[in-house]
Amino acid sequence: MICFGYEAKGDGPPDVCYYRVAPDGKFLEVVWLVAPVVGMIHDFAVTENFVLFPIMPQVCDLERLKQGGEHWQWSPETPFYVGVLPRTGAKPEDVKWFQYRNSFPGHVSNTFKDSSGNLVMDIALSDKNVFFWWPDAQWNAPEPSSIVSQLKRFVTDPKSSNLHLADPEVLQEDNSEFYRIDDRFATQPYRHCFYDMLNPALGTDFPGITHQLGGGYPLYNSLGHLDLQTRKVEVYFPGRTHMVQEPVFIPRRGSGEEGDGYLLALVNNYATMSSELHLLDTKNFTKVQVVILLPVRLRQGLHGNWVDDDKP
Ligand SMILES: [Fe+2]
Repeated sequence: MICFGYEAKGDGPPDVCYYRVAPDGKFLEVVWLVAPVVGMIHDFAVTENFVLFPIMPQVCDLERLKQGGEHWQWSPETPFYVGVLPRTGAKPEDVKWFQYRNSFPGHVSNTFKDSSGNLVMDIALSDKNVFFWWPDAQWNAPEPSSIVSQLKRFVTDPKSSNLHLADPEVLQEDNSEFYRIDDRFATQPYRHCFYDMLNPALGTDFPGITHQLGGGYPLYNSLGHLDLQTRKVEVYFPGRTHMVQEPVFIPRRGSGEEGDGYLLALVNNYATMSSELHLLDTKNFTKVQVVILLPVRLRQGLHGNWVDDDKP
């Protein structure tokens, strides 16, 4: 298992800990890094030979904490840093902190080495502070409905001495997040990406949902499937009163073909105020196969994995 911790020596200092753990629980290696800023690292990326640490420009200041302030504050002056470290046998001084203009990194879709030896990182990126509830020092925060995250591709030469990242390629124009892939292709070149997306044009009853919620701004009304080879996008829209949570990909039994299987997502039905599971077949993505009505209403939750019952 590959792991990291930020603020790993306590609140305030910029220490990041990278470590690998064997199946028997033994630590294989521990590498302590010093980040250029005390920022939040929510997700990270792994290739066959490197690990990458994307740092959000949400920063911590110990003095502010001591005065009873918030742990995090948006810093419009801070670049988006990406630490690149060899995955095995690294020393702390091997880390390279690449940077891009101030922007907000979200979840990673996949990361891999291309045929030129460059690192390709596909990640959600927004020009705005997605964590708007932690505004900047002047209490500025974007209007939630104005925030858009897109799936973007950064290509980086890990040997480069130029630490400024080139503009990423926009892989998908829609407002999207919570990318899931066929995990058998994690760290490798891949073709299929599944995700949550928000497209108001699909016909969601936003006033009705907001009324049920008692306010706020509901997120993600559909599931997307991006074919990175053809760049074709398929969309599943679960209904006008429905919002989707993060899906999981389930490989079809006996199939080794990338992306061949099912997508399962927890769906909030705001007409019935109940939770549903929607099961899609990735070969017929736009039509639901099964809707499972759950006997309990689940809270908003994030992140899960599918494990076959024939696996330990
Ligand atoms: Fe997350």
